[in-house]
Amino acid sequence: MSKFIHQTLPHHHHHAIIIPCPFQGHINPAIHLSLRLASIGFKITFINTQFIHSQITKAHSSEPGPGPESNNIFSKARESGLDIHYITIYDGFPLDFDRNMNSLPFLEGLINGFVDHVDELVGKLIEKDDSINCLVADTFFVWPSIIAMKYNMVHVSFFTEPALVFALYYHLHLLQQKGHFGSHENRKDIVDYIPGVKSIKSSDLPSLFQNSVVHQLIYKAFQDVRKADIIIANTVQELEPETITSIQEKHSFYAIGPIVSANFTDLTIPSSLWSEIDCTQWLDAKPHGSVLYVSFGSVALVNKEDILELAHGLMLSEVNFVWVLRFNFLGQDEKSILPDGFEGKVKDRGLIVPWCNQMKVISHSAIGGFLSHCGWNSVVESIWCGVPLICSPLVTDQLANRKLVVYDWKVGINLRDGESITREEVRDKIKYLMNEEISSNLRKTIAQVKETFYSALATNGSSNVNFNKFVEELTMKISLVREH
Ligand code: UDX
Repeated sequence: MSKFIHQTLPHHHHHAIIIPCPFQGHINPAIHLSLRLASIGFKITFINTQFIHSQITKAHSSEPGPGPESNNIFSKARESGLDIHYITIYDGFPLDFDRNMNSLPFLEGLINGFVDHVDELVGKLIEKDDSINCLVADTFFVWPSIIAMKYNMVHVSFFTEPALVFALYYHLHLLQQKGHFGSHENRKDIVDYIPGVKSIKSSDLPSLFQNSVVHQLIYKAFQDVRKADIIIANTVQELEPETITSIQEKHSFYAIGPIVSANFTDLTIPSSLWSEIDCTQWLDAKPHGSVLYVSFGSVALVNKEDILELAHGLMLSEVNFVWVLRFNFLGQDEKSILPDGFEGKVKDRGLIVPWCNQMKVISHSAIGGFLSHCGWNSVVESIWCGVPLICSPLVTDQLANRKLVVYDWKVGINLRDGESITREEVRDKIKYLMNEEISSNLRKTIAQVKETFYSALATNGSSNVNFNKFVEELTMKISLVREH
């Protein structure tokens, strides 16, 4: 039962469409945001793509109780009184199209064709129910302001990553002008001219700008976000004060994080795109803080050499570990590329799974560290659980997220500086992090940052206050939209 349901529900005249980008790391926070808004009386229409829905349905098909088999991932939320409707949309590709291995054509489809499907669906929804007055769309879409304007809705842009990354994408043109991006010989020195970002190493800048499709997507999305009525982000005011203040000089921007499954509701909403292997029994048998959790999220492709070095590093480190080796990491059977005899050699101390419930695993008392690609949700979840990180970022925002983790907040150590990693580095970093005495300073610092996270969500905490201000501004803007 939601903690919020018994409160008075003052916002029953608000009806928001919420639409996340069709990726795991964007769907999870959008689900939690939906629950939070519904808990204060919003009517929500949540839109997943048909592909994402079919993945979730397959992944959770063996679970008991009303789940996605009832065609609504929010059925438990609805039973508990939350007014959340759930519908699906065609993303322009057949269900069996491999979106991960063909990410560029898929992204091109999201940039160019998807808006037509959204337009058609929103038009139909509004025809049936004219109470819809707000669009909460992922910042990475290129079209939300067009749809919001066409259907007279207040446009809330939901940024699922930190303010630092927002600022860098927002000022992409500056990076280009100054030669840190877009030329053959990009500058490699420190970047110190982005408003709100004192300085950042060029190696911590988000990658993939050079790819024209990704560049186009970021460029268009960050033109569109300039027209949003309100921007909300999964970050915490106290942790990025200067960057947030600088964005607020131009836009209505609220830091409402951390958004993780545990903090808004006790309800479990099925959201994993792959079946979760339960690691609890295995973890129960391991000593407190002795297990390293290793995961590279849901999208990034890890190359074969890195997997081999990681496997050797894990063997040499002699620590216990749970390693999420996602199916289709490399487009082949991952286990077959592990070193000969790997599984036999680490049999009692290593568990390899294709997917798990990450929050459930990292909140287990046996977990003592997280070797991560620094996807923003993983960073936020790890801090929420007080688990220090070893950072091995691969692409996009993960490099900038690493800056926050390692250099600004000091809750993790860096593993990857260049293109590749070596088994010796992997061994040394793991041994450092997992030795509680040696990493005691890091552990003290993460306990403080964790406290900042929890305090932000308390009644007078910054994120709770920001959330209330966001709803207040939204209410005011909805009333203006209605008058016109
Ligand atoms: C992507 C980008 O890569 C990331 O950088 C960006 O910040 C968000 O979009 P992803 O790579 O999937 O996300 O990483 P992350 O942001 O960490 O999100 C993964 C989500 O999947 C997390 O919520 C995590 O809890 C969940 N997860 C991951 C599982 O539930 N089980 C797993 O086995 C692995």
